[in-house]
Amino acid sequence: MKNLRFGAAVTLAVLTLGVTVAFVQAQSNRPGDKPYEPRKGQSGKDVIWVPTPDPTAEKMLDAARTTPDDYVIDLGSGDGRLVIAAAKRGIRGHGVEFNPDMVEYARKKAAEAGVADKASFIQGDMYEADISKATVLPLFLLSENLERLVPKFLTLKPGTRIVINGYQIYGWEPDQTVLAEGDCGYWCTVYLYIVPAPAEGTWQLGEQVLTLKQEYQKITGTLGKSAIENATLNGNEIRFSVGRTQYMGRIEGAEMKGRIAGARSGVWMARKG
Ligand SMILES: C[S@@+](CC[C@H](N)C(=O)[O-])C[C@H]1O[C@@H](n2cnc3c(N)ncnc32)[C@H](O)[C@@H]1O
Repeated sequence: MKNLRFGAAVTLAVLTLGVTVAFVQAQSNRPGDKPYEPRKGQSGKDVIWVPTPDPTAEKMLDAARTTPDDYVIDLGSGDGRLVIAAAKRGIRGHGVEFNPDMVEYARKKAAEAGVADKASFIQGDMYEADISKATVLPLFLLSENLERLVPKFLTLKPGTRIVINGYQIYGWEPDQTVLAEGDCGYWCTVYLYIVPAPAEGTWQLGEQVLTLKQEYQKITGTLGKSAIENATLNGNEIRFSVGRTQYMGRIEGAEMKGRIAGARSGVWMARKG
């Protein structure tokens, strides 16, 4: 008797669940409902939706020198157009968007464009997203959003490119600024930022100490008692000169090494100490 009552209760629960699911599905997908269409300027969690114009999207991917080996992540991906534009170039990509309707819409657009196998979208908060696999981040966000994301950007592999439509990152000078042409309205300027390797600190270079100070890709410092000059840092690639000797090399973690040219020639190596 007890078992029978328990069985009836389970059946009732399963039926109730089934009816509820069917009701919710019917509510969200009623025949005759208009398909979801986003409106320019519609509100978003931390920034409204305004789409990147197509010529600007293409310019962003050009500025980042994307290749099919890249993996693109758009934070606040809207209707998915930046990820879809990359996918049409054969590049895999992923969009993180807070608005679930926009996520569905982007998936539909990717399928229509025939690139659903290369372009994926997920509902989520961009500040929480895992971006560790990105080699290129094409973004259209406000400077204040970008500022919050900078600590995450700096954990990315050196050389990762961040290409931004219209807005700059406070205090970080872009590596390049380019203009899109054609029908790009107010949104034609693209800023490229290249994630720099961590270079700051003291390094033992032969018998001498190389001391570097770093602000993003800008480096200054001394080798022994001489100031280094013409110093540049492009991802992992470091260059500087001391007098008439030029040092060109790569930073790999706690080691940097490369070639010397100019007054002397040969190879050099330094270890962080
Ligand atoms: C200016 S639009 C850019 C859309 C797209 N990246 C483009 O370039 O066309 C910003 C997008 O970010 C989304 N968004 C706002 N706050 C967000 C958050 N915290 N996490 C994820 N997406 C967010 C908005 O819903 C909107 O779709």
